Amino acid sequence: MNNNPLFAVAAVYDNPDKIISAVTKIANSGYRKFDVNTPYPLHGMDGAMKLKSSKLGFITLFFGLMGAATALLLAWWTLSVDYPLIIGGKPFFALPAFIPVTFELTVLLATVSTVICMLTFFFRFPANSYPIHDTQYMKDVSGDKFGVYVEAADSRFDLTELTILFNETGAVRIDQIYLPAKEVYPLFQPKFLWFLFSVFVITSIITYFSLNKLMYMEPFDWMADQQKQSVQKMSAFYSDEFGMRTPVKGTVARGFIPYKYLGQAVPADTMKNPLPPTSSVLELGKKKFLTFCSPCHGNFADGDSRLRGQFVNPPSLHTNRARTMTDGFIYHIITNGQNAMPSYSSQVTREERWSIINYLRVLQKAKNASDADLKMAKKESVSDGK
Ligand code: HEC
Repeated sequence: MNNNPLFAVAAVYDNPDKIISAVTKIANSGYRKFDVNTPYPLHGMDGAMKLKSSKLGFITLFFGLMGAATALLLAWWTLSVDYPLIIGGKPFFALPAFIPVTFELTVLLATVSTVICMLTFFFRFPANSYPIHDTQYMKDVSGDKFGVYVEAADSRFDLTELTILFNETGAVRIDQIYLPAKEVYPLFQPKFLWFLFSVFVITSIITYFSLNKLMYMEPFDWMADQQKQSVQKMSAFYSDEFGMRTPVKGTVARGFIPYKYLGQAVPADTMKNPLPPTSSVLELGKKKFLTFCSPCHGNFADGDSRLRGQFVNPPSLHTNRARTMTDGFIYHIITNGQNAMPSYSSQVTREERWSIINYLRVLQKAKNASDADLKMAKKESVSDGK
């Protein structure tokens, strides 16, 4: 009745027990290329079909490990080999900091590749037709019937043996399913391709001549043409022809207070500390000192750097020189930098700088207290009731 090659022989059952016993027999007879279609999952079917567990888990494992390795290698190479950066005195390859990224990349690669591999390798995406579609068999098993089909491609395939097996196990229908006739898509006929090609060529030529030659039109001129001055470009508007303008002489930009002694190694005059050493000022000073100064100067300003020789060790700030510096000069060092020490004016605000200096004074006092200081501290703690 059909000249196309046979794809499979299929049987439909009306009872789950019957199909399980049929499938057990098929699997025991050595068939491998067969599949089962049931309206709902049947308990015991995996065992009856002798299915092995899916290999998808290995793909997940492989790509998960790849993700973890990629993240760790990237973090290690960028931050320890290519561009070693000291961050808060920590080791270059500070593992705890890279755990979140490693975790994210592991999960990302594992899940995305699992889905992609499942669709492409296991479900053969984008195959969207299959010989058993559009058959009476498919209609039955989409309703209340249970079906099994054995592919003709199976090396054990024996049509008469299978028909007998199906009949013995109580099949209500036995179908032979043929491969569909090969379709020739009119889309890929040479005539049509030539037509497409000529449409492309003719439209391009007409568009080119009408837009570019007949009436000159820019396709989109949204913001290309407008009155504006780019900083790096020449200007026809200003007499000096510079696009980049310098600030008007004698004016100060909003929020900007110029520092008078910038660039001077030892300014002749310095500023006065406007902040009294109140507890909130010292609290702020301590916090900022520990954040910005302690990596090099040490937690107690002893000059015991945490940078393990990656940067010049600074001197102790308990020297006579540092103790007798004016507040204004220390402010100058923080703002301007001194020799190897860079300027901290962009990280530390003016108020924070003065607070750090007040806190530094506390540290210096604590490491160089005189008897009189101790007596005064005792008296104060007595009057506090401690
Ligand atoms: C990157 C490391 C580093 C950091 C961070 C740093 N310093 Fe320094 N600092 C140095 C070095 C190095 C010197 C010595 C510079 C020199 O040779 O004159 C120095 C010198 C100083 C001096 C002068 C000491 C002297 O005897 O001349 C003061 C005061 C000082 N630092 C205060 C600070 C304060 C306050 C901070 C926090 C805002 C800070 N430093 C942050 C590296 C640092």
